Amino acid sequence: MSDAALLNRTLAIEVARVTEAAALAAYKLAGRGDEKAADQAAVDAMRKAFDKLEIDGMVVIGEGERDEAPMLFIGEKVGTGRGPKVDIALDPLEGTTLTAKSMPGAMAVVALAVGGTLLHAPDVYMDKIAVGGGYPIGVVDLDAEPGDNIASLAKAKGVRPDQITACVLDRPRHEKIIASIRKTGAAVRLITDGDVAGVIDTAEAHTGVDIYIGQGGAPEGVLAAAALRCIGGQILGRLVFKTDDERMRAEKIGLKDLNRIYRADEMASGDVIFASTGVTTGSMLTGVVDTAHHLTTETIVMRSATGTVRWIKTRHPKHL
Ligand code: FBP
Repeated sequence: MSDAALLNRTLAIEVARVTEAAALAAYKLAGRGDEKAADQAAVDAMRKAFDKLEIDGMVVIGEGERDEAPMLFIGEKVGTGRGPKVDIALDPLEGTTLTAKSMPGAMAVVALAVGGTLLHAPDVYMDKIAVGGGYPIGVVDLDAEPGDNIASLAKAKGVRPDQITACVLDRPRHEKIIASIRKTGAAVRLITDGDVAGVIDTAEAHTGVDIYIGQGGAPEGVLAAAALRCIGGQILGRLVFKTDDERMRAEKIGLKDLNRIYRADEMASGDVIFASTGVTTGSMLTGVVDTAHHLTTETIVMRSATGTVRWIKTRHPKHL
């Protein structure tokens, strides 16, 4: 059976239940100021929902190593054990702080890929640069000055640099990047959290974001790469190791060249499905809407095999 057939069409719909479950659980704790509780609720719900999926799944990007995460840890088997062998990258709650503070942009995220095709990125930082689809390969360079990347992108887009918008995580470590971007006249859209959406926004014209630059989580980098494989766009990422322990963990996973720059098709090299459900409303998704008798969720599901993107709006009766 071909890879495309393996990650079949039914699974692309079924996976929505997994992210819906996590988002609904996290939503109940939105604005309660407890990041851990919100994350735990999402993890528990996602773990349970995975049990019903007809897959022989293995978590390759999850909640941490087996000794630090009781559930959805790296290496954990999920699914019924029947069906296709799939690698799973997950972030049951992307934006724990956003949820705890009831701020925009929290979501539950999963990527399912043909077994053995997702980069087993350890939970370290990753330097990232991403642009949407339609640009020549090499239009941006991870090691170039941010301002030079803006100039190169503006030229490729046929606009002036001051017509470019860059999305950057609002962190002190990004001060120089922000200054270099602003020097070109380009706009900087600062986000407090949630760079999976920050990267995906570059591929969605309505967001107004042209480029994502900066350092965020490596797991989030692989998840965003999986999405770009489905909708087009480029991302370059390099893992950032700050301690010997982090380097040791990477070597244990089997990563040889710790300075390697990965493209989207090297982080997610096979057929992949990306799904995400909004917890709080953000640039990508409407969050959970709570009315008298129902909770309504919005989920996006993408498939690399076909490039289809579905928005699934689901009404969940409260009495269930
Ligand atoms: P969490 O959901 O784990 O809190 O991650 C949110 C996030 O903003 C990611 O989107 C991003 O990649 C990472 O944290 C950035 O890390 P840091 O907050 O340490 O700068």
